[in-house]
Amino acid sequence: MLILVTGGAGFIGSHIVTALVAAGHEVRVLDALLPAAHRTAPEIPDGTDWRHADVRDKEAVADALRGVDAVCHQAAMVGLGKDFADAPDYVGCNDLGTAVLLAGMAEAALRRLVLASSMVVYGEGRYECSRHGVVRPGPRRVADLEAGAFEPPCPSCGEPLAAGLVGEDAPADPRNVYAATKLAQEHLAAAWARATGGRVAALRYHNVYGPGMPRDTPYAGVASLFRSALSRGEAPRVFEDGGQRRDFVHVRDVAGANLAALDGLAGSPDGGLRAYNVGSGEPHTVGEMAGALAEAYGGPTPVVTGEYRLGDVRHITASSQRLRDESGWKPQVPFTEGMTEFASAPLRAG
Ligand SMILES: NC(=O)c1ccc[n+]([C@@H]2O[C@H](COP(=O)([O-])OP(=O)(O)OC[C@H]3O[C@@H](n4cnc5c(N)ncnc54)[C@H](O)[C@@H]3O)[C@@H](O)[C@H]2O)c1
Ligand SMILES: [Zn+2]
Repeated sequence: MLILVTGGAGFIGSHIVTALVAAGHEVRVLDALLPAAHRTAPEIPDGTDWRHADVRDKEAVADALRGVDAVCHQAAMVGLGKDFADAPDYVGCNDLGTAVLLAGMAEAALRRLVLASSMVVYGEGRYECSRHGVVRPGPRRVADLEAGAFEPPCPSCGEPLAAGLVGEDAPADPRNVYAATKLAQEHLAAAWARATGGRVAALRYHNVYGPGMPRDTPYAGVASLFRSALSRGEAPRVFEDGGQRRDFVHVRDVAGANLAALDGLAGSPDGGLRAYNVGSGEPHTVGEMAGALAEAYGGPTPVVTGEYRLGDVRHITASSQRLRDESGWKPQVPFTEGMTEFASAPLRAG
């Protein structure tokens, strides 16, 4: 198959390109090389048809779609950004960009799309109260965070909650601009699928890490911030009490999930979108991750600072059983092995 990978020069996209080429596919890459993501020109693997263009550019997109069998849409502005002034750029790249791509696909009668979505569409993870069952705690209060009370309490009785695994049917609750644009991408793709009879697998990646991750910028993930601190000889600074639970999934496993989804579009129905969590299924706390990375790097030991960022969620861990059941995909990189590799893996200039 000829696959168009948008954002194929990025962290995850470049691993997808490598995996597709290794699986014998032809690959075309369209990437605008956003300055926030690339300080230096990335390497484009041999044998890929490379297009330096923006997904908002209608002509470039129409041209890039010619002869393509399926699209793997990774291009997006990522991370939390600096402040709200970034909002128009996020909406432009992520939502206008997706709309232009989908319009091009409709025009070209293309029917298969794998969309890079995110766990951020859920907001907080899944919580259960022993008295009230599954509950949805709202954003945490500043006074609680100041007092070091990081666990969100039951909204009905104030008792402590047990954190669990979030499934794809959990209600969406995007908490920031980036999250809102990722959810809007899913909605746009679902609308395209309904209008054209297309099929979409929306892969909701959890915390992706691995070789080639961008160095610390306001757009980078926590694993990269810790890894960057270690390479400066500094201790990773762990916010809150370090007990925040996440699902750290290796970038090669994420690339594998894209291939599995492209293969059969998993269980997505004709004329519809089906969402899939993409996580390792092995939750860890941010403190554990910092510890594993620091140990593999050879120190210094992480410092737990008690600081917090408004808008951070406490726990978000996924069940990725749906993708396993419907596509046969299985994560291959265990946590300790992946973190050990990541401790000495090259990062990308951010
Ligand atoms: N890294 C994670 O942990 C994570 C988690 C969940 C979801 N995602 C999603 O995965 C996808 C890839 O993210 P990444 O971590 O590889 O980020 P990245 O910044 O490394 O890659 C994104 C790529 O998209 C390109 N791009 C951005 N806007 C574009 C536009 N308008 N036109 C053309 N190209 C454009 C950038 O130049 C970059 O090469 C994104 O859709 C992101 O939302 C990432
Ligand atoms: Zn309760």
